[in-house]
Amino acid sequence: MNQTEKPTALIMIFGATGDLANRKLFPSLYQLYQKGNLDRFAVIGVARRSLTDEQFKQNVKDSVLSAENSSENIDEFISHFSYHSHDVTDSSSYTALNQLAEELDNRFKLNGNRIFYLAMAPEFFGTIAEHLKKDGLTNVKGFKRLVIEKPFGHDLESAKKLNKQIRTAFSENEIYRIDHYLGKEMVQNIEVIRFANAMFEPLWNNRYISNIQITSSEVLGVEERGRYYEKSGALRDMVQNHMLQMVALLAMEPPIRLTTDEIRSEKVRVLRSLRQVTGEDVGKYFVRGQYGEGVVNGEQLPAYRNEDMVDPESTTETFVAGKLMIDNFRWAGVPFYIRTGKRMLTKQTKIVIQFKDIPMNLYYQTEQTLAPNLLVIHIQPEEGITLHLNAKKFGQSLDATPVKMSFANKGINGMNTPEAYELLLFDCMRGDATNFTHWDEVALSWSFVDNISNAWRNMKETSFPNYESGKMGPQAAHELLEKDGFHWWPVTTLDVETCN
Ligand code: BG6
Repeated sequence: MNQTEKPTALIMIFGATGDLANRKLFPSLYQLYQKGNLDRFAVIGVARRSLTDEQFKQNVKDSVLSAENSSENIDEFISHFSYHSHDVTDSSSYTALNQLAEELDNRFKLNGNRIFYLAMAPEFFGTIAEHLKKDGLTNVKGFKRLVIEKPFGHDLESAKKLNKQIRTAFSENEIYRIDHYLGKEMVQNIEVIRFANAMFEPLWNNRYISNIQITSSEVLGVEERGRYYEKSGALRDMVQNHMLQMVALLAMEPPIRLTTDEIRSEKVRVLRSLRQVTGEDVGKYFVRGQYGEGVVNGEQLPAYRNEDMVDPESTTETFVAGKLMIDNFRWAGVPFYIRTGKRMLTKQTKIVIQFKDIPMNLYYQTEQTLAPNLLVIHIQPEEGITLHLNAKKFGQSLDATPVKMSFANKGINGMNTPEAYELLLFDCMRGDATNFTHWDEVALSWSFVDNISNAWRNMKETSFPNYESGKMGPQAAHELLEKDGFHWWPVTTLDVETCN
């Protein structure tokens, strides 16, 4: 399908009464509808709870109204929604679902195109996929696609098992594994910044870049997700997917074409070049942390171990910092530092590319050492890029002083960036899998991360909690860079300034 064609499909959302459907999926579909991006479509909400169509439609309406400023055409929009109360293990429930699907297909003329969106507890992913095939739902005359939320397994073994189950019903190119970071405007912009600018790509290598830093920090704690998070921790929750995906986009070679296969295969090559860190070396490359109590904005916050559904002696990490080495010709010797965690100082995701110092500093007379050039990519909440340069100080001196050139997405376009889910849903409906993760990426990411979690499991960690809520992680995360002669660029002083 080309970029301008509008998709036609029946979307079945499994987990339609859940948080993701209500907070993200319904408002995103509404946005697509309002922008005229959907041609013919219908949605079946699938969940265990027993609800009438009318009750479900009201839920969809409420969720749109609480997320959007507009309610234009809302009644027309919800007329495309139906509800099916479902038992995921019972074939007769799938048969009834199939009947409803066929009825809607005829009524809305959907060409037999079906999207199955699994927005629910991962333990049912495999069972559902198997039933979809067994009970005839994947037997369609149009396209069939499976959209699957994370976590995709909790290690390589379980991910392989799940993949095998879903592959019985869908081929690899029918599977859309969500990593919502790939739907973020500025994550998608990484490729454009790199490959559409003559001034960056020639410098994008170990001759000119000294290190790259990726920070994704959150202020929120584990909230009501203790049960899931206890088994996951920051490594599986954020590093295995979002952080490694950003590393891959920053480090990949220019693809020969901007097609899904070419881009994915370049990303896979990066993940294959990651230096595997195992056993005792893990302590040299990775730091883990867990938040203790603290006061943030005058509010006393509990330690992780005192959160709901969390073991009072938990050794689950809520923070990870790591040094990744990519052993290929372009990146040999350049550390990619990553850090991510909960209950940190600010909510933001930023990438800092630090260029090497110029060969000779002519401005050494000044007390100040010359600041390195930095390219900062602001992923969220600000969206834009800032280039840190040195320029002459105003006045009679010849001293150099740091200056910043910024491009702020929102400031320029004057509009809100589409929600990641809006872009991803639209891509899936159009059959564009570029911004979804291929099985090879998932498998390579798990095998990298499994080495680290295995080593951690074997090390006795006694010093948790090791950072106060509201701080940027434990001291060891700073030492990780200091021993290489670097430091984390403070995230709070790199705010985007608009150009106008
Ligand atoms: C999710 C994690 O994948 O990403 C959450 O499961 C985390 O724990 C979230 O809070 C962060 O996403 P964002 O878009 O707010 O940076």
